[in-house]
Amino acid sequence: MSFITKAACVGGGVIGGAWVARFALAGIDVKIFDPHPEAERIIGEVMANAERAYAMLTMAPLPPKGKLTFCKSIEEAVKDADWIQESVPERLELKRGVITKIDAASRPDALIGSSTSGLLPSDLQSEMHHPERMFVAHPYNPVYLLPLVELVGGKKTTKATIERAMLGVEQIGMKGVVIAKEIEAFVGDRLLEALWREALWLIQDDICDTETLDNVMRYSFGMRWAQMGLFETYRIAGGEAGMRHFLAQFGPCLKWPWTKFTDVVDLDDALVEKIGAQSDAQAAGRSIRELERIRDENLVGIMHALKSGNGGEGWGAGKLLADFEAKLWANAKKPEADLGDVKPLRIVDTKVSAAWVDYNGHMTEHRYLQVFGDTTDGLLRLIGVDLDYVRDGHSYYTVETHIRNLGEAKLGDALYSTCQVLSSDEKRLHIFSTIYNAATNEAVATAEQMALHVDSKAGKAVAAPAHVLSKLAAIAEAHAQLPTPEGVGRFVGQKRA
Ligand SMILES: NC(=O)c1ccc[n+]([C@@H]2O[C@H](COP(=O)([O-])OP(=O)(O)OC[C@H]3O[C@@H](n4cnc5c(N)ncnc54)[C@H](O)[C@@H]3O)[C@@H](O)[C@H]2O)c1
Repeated sequence: MSFITKAACVGGGVIGGAWVARFALAGIDVKIFDPHPEAERIIGEVMANAERAYAMLTMAPLPPKGKLTFCKSIEEAVKDADWIQESVPERLELKRGVITKIDAASRPDALIGSSTSGLLPSDLQSEMHHPERMFVAHPYNPVYLLPLVELVGGKKTTKATIERAMLGVEQIGMKGVVIAKEIEAFVGDRLLEALWREALWLIQDDICDTETLDNVMRYSFGMRWAQMGLFETYRIAGGEAGMRHFLAQFGPCLKWPWTKFTDVVDLDDALVEKIGAQSDAQAAGRSIRELERIRDENLVGIMHALKSGNGGEGWGAGKLLADFEAKLWANAKKPEADLGDVKPLRIVDTKVSAAWVDYNGHMTEHRYLQVFGDTTDGLLRLIGVDLDYVRDGHSYYTVETHIRNLGEAKLGDALYSTCQVLSSDEKRLHIFSTIYNAATNEAVATAEQMALHVDSKAGKAVAAPAHVLSKLAAIAEAHAQLPTPEGVGRFVGQKRA
């Protein structure tokens, strides 16, 4: 269900700015209030990072970007919003004051989420007139990529509010988890704080430096956590006997005096300087922006890997991404092609993103195949071969491709593709696609491809059903009147005419 059409963000720093990007890239208009004199510049930079990350993350058609409006007051920002997200600094009095103002200025049915990392929703909602619609919506940095939101209700929050909040975060591609009881720092930050406290002791006591500690995590259990979390990972670690055996084997160690968890290290000037210096050395001169870029690329890569995990079904955050993309495709405006037009069908409109270019600054080789693949998918959707059709067990498989690279596509170039059906019968589909530079209309690459209609479970070619073949025939009959494109039938090494 899509009920958020207008959002408001109060506070637009690290977290608020990234919420703005999350909403806007899901097609939702956002009004922003942040008194910081440079709020517009800062949010602009976060938006640029987020757009770059989304261009790498998905080929699914994102809705038109929501409009950003910078407002002079909380009242102006929130008055007509469906969802208001508060992300001001973590001080109870400040947050409670801001939330009480939001309450007074917004529609009584608007949802109000707080990004607080640890304050209790009951304390935040105590002075509101309509506290039943207020809750904690605790995200993780960068909010535009990491999907999790911990939803925590206070004493006065209704169940209906949490249910709507779940639908709201789903609408923007996030994963809501409902925390059963309110508790300071909820679940995620409790775990992180326990780990962080132990880590600070290990540095303080010179057991390791910050780089060694990070290496211990990222080359080992950090990777396990991203895909299965803690308990499912330990279930496997228990071997065939599973979780009960794991608990019997390692449970007693918890009583050994390994940990200093309950003591808090004294973060005095010397320790702060020690950690600061080690962290500077570890960054090796990379700026925060550079590190953010590397982080975003890696997170996209992890989500892509998880999307093809579990035998292609998707797993965890990757499955969430696949489901979100399926919705984007379903909501996308269907190409308004007239199947009987005597001209190649225009299918894909795209742009060469930063993730697509190689060391020469040109679009890298496999991205051409990606655009041609998206072109074939677009043609297939036009004849009724969509995700539901594929889920039902039939599809077209490409069995042969010949690509010619005729020109160069550079970072930021706008491209479009067309597709001409050369011939088809009940099983075969022979097509010729061209990628053009949208500014010059010059052909950048062509692909001649053969695809077969298959029963994917039986793993063999079968005739396509009548409803697909009739649409395909309409296109094929129209395209039969077009001249055969130059380049059809070429093979590698052939002499040019
Ligand atoms: N940084 C994180 O990793 C992280 C993660 C999850 C949640 N949070 C939570 O998000 C909230 C914001 O944290 P942040 O890291 O974005 O802080 P930040 O300092 O980067 O941003 C806070 C923003 O609030 C603005 N602000 C201050 N007073 C305001 C007011 N009265 N009205 C509107 N805007 C005001 C500031 O100008 C600033 O831009 C905190 O509650 C924090 O606990 C942070």
